[in-house]
Amino acid sequence: MHSDPLSRLVLELRRGAHRVPAAALLLLTLFSACAGPGDDSSEAGIGDSTPAVVDSQSFARPDQVAVRELALDLDVDFDNRRLEGTASLHLDRRAPNAQELVLDTRQLEIRKVTLGDGQEVDFTLGEEVPLLGQSLTIPIQPDTEVVHVEYATSPDAIALQWLEPEQTAGGEHPFLFTQSQPTFARTWIPLQDTPQVRLTYKATVRVPAELLALMSASNPQQRSSDGIYRFEMPQAIPSYLIALAVGDLSFQSLGEHTGVYAEPPVLEAAAWEFDDTEAMLTRAEKLYGSYRWERFDILVLPPSFPFGGMENPRLTFATPTIIAGDRSLVTLVAHELAHSWSGNLVTNATWEDLWLNEGFTVYFERRIMEELEGRQYSEMLAELGYQDLQAALEEYGPESSKTQLHLKVGQEDDPDEVFSDIAYEKGYFFLRTIEETVGRERFDNFLRTYFDRYAFQPMASDQFVAYLRQALVSGDDSLEEALRIDEWVYEPGLPANVSEPAPDAFEGVDRQLAALAAGTAPGQIDRTGWTTHHWLHFLRNLPEDLTADDLARLDKALAFTQAGNAEIKNEWLQLAIAHDYAAAYPALESFLTSMGRIKFLAPLYRALAETEEGRARGLEIYQQARPLYHPLAVGAVDHILGWQQQDSATETPDEGTEAAEEAPPQEDAA
Ligand code: BES
Ligand code: ZN
Repeated sequence: MHSDPLSRLVLELRRGAHRVPAAALLLLTLFSACAGPGDDSSEAGIGDSTPAVVDSQSFARPDQVAVRELALDLDVDFDNRRLEGTASLHLDRRAPNAQELVLDTRQLEIRKVTLGDGQEVDFTLGEEVPLLGQSLTIPIQPDTEVVHVEYATSPDAIALQWLEPEQTAGGEHPFLFTQSQPTFARTWIPLQDTPQVRLTYKATVRVPAELLALMSASNPQQRSSDGIYRFEMPQAIPSYLIALAVGDLSFQSLGEHTGVYAEPPVLEAAAWEFDDTEAMLTRAEKLYGSYRWERFDILVLPPSFPFGGMENPRLTFATPTIIAGDRSLVTLVAHELAHSWSGNLVTNATWEDLWLNEGFTVYFERRIMEELEGRQYSEMLAELGYQDLQAALEEYGPESSKTQLHLKVGQEDDPDEVFSDIAYEKGYFFLRTIEETVGRERFDNFLRTYFDRYAFQPMASDQFVAYLRQALVSGDDSLEEALRIDEWVYEPGLPANVSEPAPDAFEGVDRQLAALAAGTAPGQIDRTGWTTHHWLHFLRNLPEDLTADDLARLDKALAFTQAGNAEIKNEWLQLAIAHDYAAAYPALESFLTSMGRIKFLAPLYRALAETEEGRARGLEIYQQARPLYHPLAVGAVDHILGWQQQDSATETPDEGTEAAEEAPPQEDAA
């Protein structure tokens, strides 16, 4: 794993301010790593309005045959960290004389393939391509309707994290969860792993009887007596939204269509934190049309969950680090809910157009928050987002192609040099700018129609741009000129027509920052009514030339080291490291060993790696923490700390060193 390009994604995780850069980066790291199995194909569109775009991240040829339904039958084996069973794939023929079905696989053991009539067939596993895995080619007959693949996953499967009881809140039962986005579904299911193909699914899953199993599908609210669970997802979804979690989980209702699953010790706090979920759903429907997925439940994962949230349909996965005790971080719920339209309903056709998922979702998320909390609140979110965007632009330089919304990442591009926040925040500001230019009512109508018209379909940048011109601009030359559509989507940098956040979003905080700079004691600053977002703005905008003594004074008055809020803690600990404020180091260590969210791990380890002493401290902490982290987080932090070079000897279990014993079994995951 030491040359694993996945771990290089971390190179771009410059600041804590960036949100999910890991994820975004990951995508692009993937692009440039391969020759593009689809490159030689001139794929025609799939379905009516499907753009003719090639997904270089998949071996599948859905123009020939597409899988329209999946039936899974799986045993969950915690002892061997293995899923074992059968995937039955129901086919939709698109080319009448298609003779083979090509699937994506990675780290899978394929045991047997039979056609619907029971006939066993010889399958071919292609050569292993870094990060993409292996194609699985199955010969089919003209009348083949279904193909059964018997298989098992690897204990290192990158989509799967198998947790020991100690890694859970309850401490008594093991836990398993999947993370399929963007291209990891193929590490636990053989399928066409491209967002251009949608499928419905059914599953039978057998787990230890004391555990509950959940999927991105119809879900039980109680344990079964025999550990057998049956699921159905009747709405067609792309492969990256197939998800499974197994653990000691209980359910609590939040409203008619909403609820939360969590381990028993977390459930009550989670239900309190997410109290607004049903209201978010109601507001969202009012904005952009009916919710198509029947239920919206939230699953709170153990703290090693590597992301903030993941929009698995009907069952959003969420990090416990948003349970702040004051509901101040629930924008993340609005975000994942918004994906029920942008992403899950209208889906980016390839990962090069991630902005069509994430930028739209940030826009929608802020509209939901505006409905619930008012304009001032959503303007604070926009301002923090603008700061993130500016940081990303600065990092890459305004000329960099990584600052385009539509990304073209070819083989010649350096995988270490890819992007982060652009899809989220430049995407958001593009839509905000359109709204401001044409007016809210007109833009909302446009979006409502867009989600409706392209529901359950893939979408590419070109197609969106064409639709925007047709449905909104409709030949109005001055509007065309005002919007600068092509500049936004296809060019680097930030167009001059950007609709900036209200300059007074943090007026009160800015005033106190000025007072502080002018000598007011930290204890004297007026922080009446400040919420998490005010504090984030405050911490991000402190003068750069602070000393450790200054931090001590701030800490004494404002108790940042003791902050229970993970976002605030993250900002503060970055400052503590940068200014060598040693009193915060015990808190740093306990933060880094108690959760595995990459958004926090990366900037903190990165800050530590700035100095030799810090790096040594980081390595010491990482030694304990590494076995607790998700394979994606391990890849990221290994790279930041240069774990492999520095400690490569300790990586070989034969060496019998401490580190070798502590290393988790996911070494080759990527
Ligand atoms: N779908 C993303 C997470 C993701 C993106 C995973 C790309 C893998 C590849 C999810 O909706 C997301 O954006 N999560 C954010 C939260 C959000 C409020 C910005 C996160 O995890 O921090
Ligand atoms: Zn998202």
